[in-house]
Amino acid sequence: MNDLASQLPWAELHVHLEGTLEAPMVMDFARRNHVSLPWTSPDELTRAYRFTDLQDFLDLYYAACAVLVTERDFHDLTAAYLARAKLGGVRHVEMFFDPETHMQRGVDIGTVITGIASACAGSEQRYGITTQLIMCFLRDRTGAEALTTLRSAKPFIPHLSGVGLDSAERGNPPSRFVDVFRMAREDFGLHAVAHAGEEGPSEYIWQALNLLGAERIDHGVRCVEDPQLVAHLVRHQIPLTVCPLSNVRLGVFPDIGAHVLDGLLKLGLQVSVHSDDPAYFGGYLLDNLRAVQQGLGLTNAQIVQLARNSFTAAFIPAERKIQHCNEIEVVAERMLGTGWRQHAGSTTDSNPGW
Ligand code: HPA
Ligand code: ZN
Repeated sequence: MNDLASQLPWAELHVHLEGTLEAPMVMDFARRNHVSLPWTSPDELTRAYRFTDLQDFLDLYYAACAVLVTERDFHDLTAAYLARAKLGGVRHVEMFFDPETHMQRGVDIGTVITGIASACAGSEQRYGITTQLIMCFLRDRTGAEALTTLRSAKPFIPHLSGVGLDSAERGNPPSRFVDVFRMAREDFGLHAVAHAGEEGPSEYIWQALNLLGAERIDHGVRCVEDPQLVAHLVRHQIPLTVCPLSNVRLGVFPDIGAHVLDGLLKLGLQVSVHSDDPAYFGGYLLDNLRAVQQGLGLTNAQIVQLARNSFTAAFIPAERKIQHCNEIEVVAERMLGTGWRQHAGSTTDSNPGW
């Protein structure tokens, strides 16, 4: 397709590396590592992708992770994702990974991080994609376990740009992870992000901001339930990394037409679109964009705004943001004609504030 979204550059800020594990890869890695699985073919595995909610998805997602054992597995998975992302116009990725999922199976944290980092090392040259890694703690484990994980990651901190919080949200508030986030920020100088307001209440978004020092909220769509929170997010331009196909597949919204993305954009929130677990939820970044463009009737101006927002929210220097946004402008003019802003009735901000 030669649509606007496919011609624009994008930053992918909400993708779980383990969520890019495509079914054929699960089978290949299982074979080479002699791991036995409950599924005998990629088709049988994909037929099991009928999730009723987040926990239902996570049960399968963690089960499939059992095939990731060696440094080569983590390298190959990362390289395969980057090759695919390049085709979808991704220029910068901040990738989540879940070391605790692998450590509980006896895989060393060094194996995980070294494998991922070795694929990222050649990414800019090979794929034209700059990369950063965000290590996530599983919120359905304890804060003490998260602290142990962070301490064991100490030799590998130079490979990381931030920490995050993911897994089953309901009943697992950010407040449990205050100490580990403080250590990550203050002792290791890492950025902080957190999943909040996906399935859990908007109160968890407040907690992520106020208790964990989260600079971005992953998902955050349930902010709409709290007008004061929405006003705070707008005033401080706190980014929300929204994953529409994920939200629909996990029942957060009944269908794409019911998604709140265009409402969030119209309210002036700093939202961007991402893919979460693309191997499981029906597509990568461009698939998510096309879904919202069709399902919500987003305008070209809104698509351009989403591209700009993806770089504005990234943990990259201001000069890089400006370069990416200048390229967005060039592509928009080429695709839509000079003066497209006036014709498109754009609401884009000419002063993005950095
Ligand atoms: N939500 C929370 N945790 C996750 C997800 C998700 O969609 N994917 C992987 N870990
Ligand atoms: Zn996620």
